[in-house]
Amino acid sequence: MKPYYQTIAPDYARHRRIHAGVLDGLISTARLGPSSSVLELGCGTGNYLAALDEAAACQCWGIDPSEAMLAEARTTCPKARFSCALAESVAVPSDHFDLVFAVDVIHYIADRPQAFQECRRVLRANGNLCLVTDSPEIIRTREPLSTYFPETVEAELARYPSLVTLGEELRTAGFSDIAEAKVEYRGELADIEPYRAKVFSSLRLISQAAYERGLQRMESDLTSRPISCVSRYVMLCAKKS
Ligand SMILES: C[S@@+](CC[C@H](N)C(=O)[O-])C[C@H]1O[C@@H](n2cnc3c(N)ncnc32)[C@H](O)[C@@H]1O
Repeated sequence: MKPYYQTIAPDYARHRRIHAGVLDGLISTARLGPSSSVLELGCGTGNYLAALDEAAACQCWGIDPSEAMLAEARTTCPKARFSCALAESVAVPSDHFDLVFAVDVIHYIADRPQAFQECRRVLRANGNLCLVTDSPEIIRTREPLSTYFPETVEAELARYPSLVTLGEELRTAGFSDIAEAKVEYRGELADIEPYRAKVFSSLRLISQAAYERGLQRMESDLTSRPISCVSRYVMLCAKKS
């Protein structure tokens, strides 16, 4: 069987959108502008790089181990430079970037200390690293993911590293000025298709019965009322000292 991101790439590109609060946070943290260079680890279909290119006109680079995700990214953000690589071995120049960031990726990285060494290598002095991830509280209160598919909660808690662990690992790797910021977006679920297409990987971690139960409840509720949606992230940012 092909790995998840190799098969889901076109649906991911169709359905997943950037979080405006994350975009603003990246731009303000690293004071990005046309002379800035940014690298996204696990850039997926390139939606954040395309938004950064449009909003800040910075030089965009992305790496991802999935060729199918990168094929979408090359269309989404044609100006960016992409390579097929893991965060643990990024194969990009040293001392080059003002910002290295990763959104929804840290829980996939098998060797985080090695990845953080790579981040340090490729950042310029005083460059910024931003890890955009979920805390246990965010995982428990996701809407509608955790309300309609409660079985995702335990599966997700088991695979996400805690913020304390990440902070310690960053300090050990030589980062300083570690700071957390929360971003939140509230709205209403406009489209059930992303759930049908399973573009949220946690839906692959639960049983088919649990998935179908949640989807049926969602379909039924949507016929009588809107479903509220909350998208939250923690941005854990640090500086190369
Ligand atoms: C949830 S997607 C996030 C994509 C993009 N950052 C976004 O927010 O739309 C996770 C991405 O991480 C990539 N990935 C998985 N393991 C990785 C690793 N060790 N290093 C870098 N990226 C990885 C996957 O291929 C996938 O594209």
